Amino acid sequence: MNVIQGARRTAVAVAMSLGWLVSPLAQADVSDIVKECDSCHGADGVSTESKIPTIAGFSEFVFEEYMYQYQDEARPCREVEYPSGDEKGTKTTMCEEAAELSEEQISELTGYYAGKSFKAATQEFDAALAAEGASIHKRDCEKCHTDGGSYAGDDAGLLAGQWMGYLQQVFADYAAGERSMMEDKMKEKVDALDEASTKALIHYYASQQ
Ligand code: HEC
Ligand code: HEC
Repeated sequence: MNVIQGARRTAVAVAMSLGWLVSPLAQADVSDIVKECDSCHGADGVSTESKIPTIAGFSEFVFEEYMYQYQDEARPCREVEYPSGDEKGTKTTMCEEAAELSEEQISELTGYYAGKSFKAATQEFDAALAAEGASIHKRDCEKCHTDGGSYAGDDAGLLAGQWMGYLQQVFADYAAGERSMMEDKMKEKVDALDEASTKALIHYYASQQ
């Protein structure tokens, strides 16, 4: 977080605690907010859209961290269209979504989605690429992303069964240096991957259904 972002977060927190900020989400009940999140992320946070990640079953540590990363714009603030719900067809960004939330609301949403079950996406994959990806994963990633990247208790996100379209975007953002990685050791490994290895890894994660 840079100084300006830090100051902005503090200013927002102060304004919210004094009740000055009256954005729609700032006053909303968490169940209403969940409805809005689910209109993109799917019922109970299980996505049916390849470009939108499933967020059910994440560890609380990672979920909360990611929400603050969007608040701080430490991840790309890409425009995305609501695929369903009241706002279907209109656009927003994850940064805007996160910016409207108080710390308390983020904490409640974190607990809510951590209590839901992750369900692997049903999607096509190439078996030969997946096998290649499995050995790259074992060599470079399994140490922190255990059980093929399916164990939330690692506090390292969930990779197994995540949507391919979303993972492609994530790795493109890493390659462009536009998305933060908390662990230097991971950055070292990811930066060393060539395009073919990245593709194989994505097919491996998609193959776990
Ligand atoms: C308009 C659609 C849309 C809405 C509404 C939305 N999201 Fe997202 N969300 C996305 C997309 C697309 C991404 C992936 C963005 C990226 O590349 O970082 C994402 C990413 C995330 C992530 C990171 C997941 C990961 O694996 O790193 C979390 C956590 C998240 N959203 C939570 C929420 C919560 C909580 C809400 C409700 C307050 C919400 N989202 C509302 C579309 C949406
Ligand atoms: C030293 C431990 C470590 C290693 C090694 C590691 N990771 Fe990670 N990874 C993490 C942690 C911790 C997170 C969660 C915080 C973050 O996103 O930076 C994470 C997050 C991720 C995410 C983002 C998930 C999401 O939903 O946003 C992806 C993708 C990922 N890792 C892929 C890999 C791949 C592929 C490798 C091997 C080439 C790898 N990681 C190696 C620790 C590691």
